[in-house]
Amino acid sequence: MIEKILPPWVASAESFDDPPGVTLFPEEEAVIARAVDKRRREFATARHCARQALAHLGLPPTPILPGERGAPGWPGGVVGAITHCAGYRAAAVSRDALTVGIDAEPHEPLPDGVLDAVSLEAERAAIARLDGGVHWDRLLFSAKESVYKAWFPLARRWLGFEEAHLVFDPSGTFTARLLVPGPSVAGRELTGFTGRWLVADGLVVTSIAVPERPRPDHAA
Ligand SMILES: CC(C)(COP(=O)(O)OP(=O)(O)OC[C@H]1O[C@@H](n2cnc3c(N)ncnc32)[C@H](O)[C@@H]1OP(=O)(O)O)[C@@H](O)C(=O)NCCC(=O)NCCS
Repeated sequence: MIEKILPPWVASAESFDDPPGVTLFPEEEAVIARAVDKRRREFATARHCARQALAHLGLPPTPILPGERGAPGWPGGVVGAITHCAGYRAAAVSRDALTVGIDAEPHEPLPDGVLDAVSLEAERAAIARLDGGVHWDRLLFSAKESVYKAWFPLARRWLGFEEAHLVFDPSGTFTARLLVPGPSVAGRELTGFTGRWLVADGLVVTSIAVPERPRPDHAA
C-alpha cells in the first residue's frame, strides 16, 4: 500500500508479517544482539524490506545500520526511510530525492493525552472540523513522524512536535509548514514539506518525498 502514496522515483517494499529466514549482516546482528524479540523482528523485517527496495534501484544487499540519532544509513547517493508498527513494516528509497520520510501507525485513536502532547492548538481545532471515518489524531501523529524522518537527514537536528504546523486535505495530501528556520537545501531555505496519506487495511500510512530537481509529477 505504501507505493500508492509514493512517486515513481521512490522505490519501496513492505511486509504485513515477519517472514521466516530473514538474514541480517553481522553488523546488523551486533546492533540488536540484546534486543527483545519484538524489536528484533521489526528491525530484521524492515532490513528485508529495505534490501528489496534497494534491489528495485539495482543495488546489491548491504547492511542498513542506525546512524546519527537513529537515522538509517543508506548506500552513497541513496536517501530513504523505514517504518514499522504492529502488523506492518516498510522501507522507501530513492536516488532522485533529497529526502524521504514514511510512517505507518495502526488506524486507531491515539491513547488519551497523546494528542495534546504532539499537536498545536490550531491543528487540533482543524482536525475536529474534518469528517469522521478517519482517526485524524493518529494521522496527524503519523504525518509528524514522516516530517521528522524527512527533516532529520537534511537538518541533522531535532524538530519538536510544536515546530511544524500540519494541514490535511481530505483527498489524501497534507502540508507541513516549519515554524523554525529550516536548513538550506539546494541554495534555498527549507520552509516545509508536502506529503500524502492513506488509510487502508487498518493502517494509516504517510509519506514525504522531496525531489532533487523540480518534477512534473510533484506538486511542491
Ligand atoms: C524517530 C521517530 C520519528 C520514529 O518514529 P516511530 O513512529 O516511533 O517509529 P517507526 O517504526 O515508524 O520508525 C522507526 C524508524 O525510524 C527511523 N529513524 C529513527 N531515528 C531517525 C532519525 N533521527 N531520522 C530519520 N529516521 C529515523 C529508523 O529507521 C527507525 O527504524 P530502525 O531503528 O529499525 O532503523 C520517533 O520515535 C521520534 O523520535 N519522534 C520525535 C520527533 C518528531 O516526531 N517530531 C515531530 C516533528 S513535526
